[in-house]
Amino acid sequence: MSVAGWYSEFAAREARGVSPVYERLSRAVARDDEVLALLETVPPAKRQPHLLFGVVRLLGGPAGDPAAFHDFVLANWPRIEPELGSRATQTNEAGRCALLMPVLATLRQPVALLEVGASAGLCLYPDRYAYRYGDHLVGSGEPVLECAATGMLPPTRRPEVVWRAGLDLNPLDVTDPADVAWLDALIWPDHTHRRDRLRAAAAIAAADPPLLVCGDLVDDLPALAAQAPRGATLVVFHSSVLYQVPSDRRAAFAEVVRALDGHWIANESPETLGYEGLPSAPDGALHNVLALDGTPLAWTRGHGQAIAWFG
Ligand SMILES: C[S@@+](CC[C@H](N)C(=O)[O-])C[C@H]1O[C@@H](n2cnc3c(N)ncnc32)[C@H](O)[C@@H]1O
Repeated sequence: MSVAGWYSEFAAREARGVSPVYERLSRAVARDDEVLALLETVPPAKRQPHLLFGVVRLLGGPAGDPAAFHDFVLANWPRIEPELGSRATQTNEAGRCALLMPVLATLRQPVALLEVGASAGLCLYPDRYAYRYGDHLVGSGEPVLECAATGMLPPTRRPEVVWRAGLDLNPLDVTDPADVAWLDALIWPDHTHRRDRLRAAAAIAAADPPLLVCGDLVDDLPALAAQAPRGATLVVFHSSVLYQVPSDRRAAFAEVVRALDGHWIANESPETLGYEGLPSAPDGALHNVLALDGTPLAWTRGHGQAIAWFG
């Protein structure tokens, strides 16, 4: 797909109905020959909307006015290009715990959680957040993670977590202002609720930090998994990570995770794990697939805002 096509697709399938600011901006970039020409000069993986928009916002650029965005990108390209080169999107969305909950509830408790591609580790606290599935509230306190659920009974309790560890090529630290600035820049500009959620989840993580290890999800997973306490159910999980991993490494990862003594929860775009025979998605918006031990179970939305269990 052309770079213009990516930006049009992002507008239509990810931002539409979710972020009017990014829908308008990505449609404008798709028609902006000068910005597209600059993007053509960086490697394909660095041209994606999430990354460009996050870097521009990190550098203090505008997102709400496409003309001002254009001017900022042209004037500041020498600052933007190295940031694109050195960064990957690391959005850490605690809201995705609302998607893990129904599966975690089916597993033998207590659980030892190991997240690959953990970013700052905010998805390692499903036992500390509160959830609202329609009228059904689970847990108490902040943040409250809202999730529109169809085709399933909401979970009735939170998991019992006795160990939490994360693996990431570049772990982020919620107590480091520079890392928090990057996490903040990655939140879409009109998503105040997600910014509030980041603050609340970061406070929880800062008070009881997880074990976060710098490493690769294939090469370094077995050694970290070996540190999990015996007597707890090991759960290796990941969300919105495999699109950043080359396909041969995805296959290697699946082999490594299947060889572990535990369970595997994946919440990833459908093409990354090559599922066959999936039912139709609820609509044309971009959906991930939630799977347990390689079996697909539900369609999910990117920030944890909806889950549609397969019939
Ligand atoms: C989009 S973020 C998602 C973070 C988190 N899973 C969530 O759902 O909020 C993807 C993360 O995967 C990490 N990542 C990408 N490739 C990786 C690899 N080969 N091994 C470990 N982490 C990786 C990135 O550094 C980034 O922090």
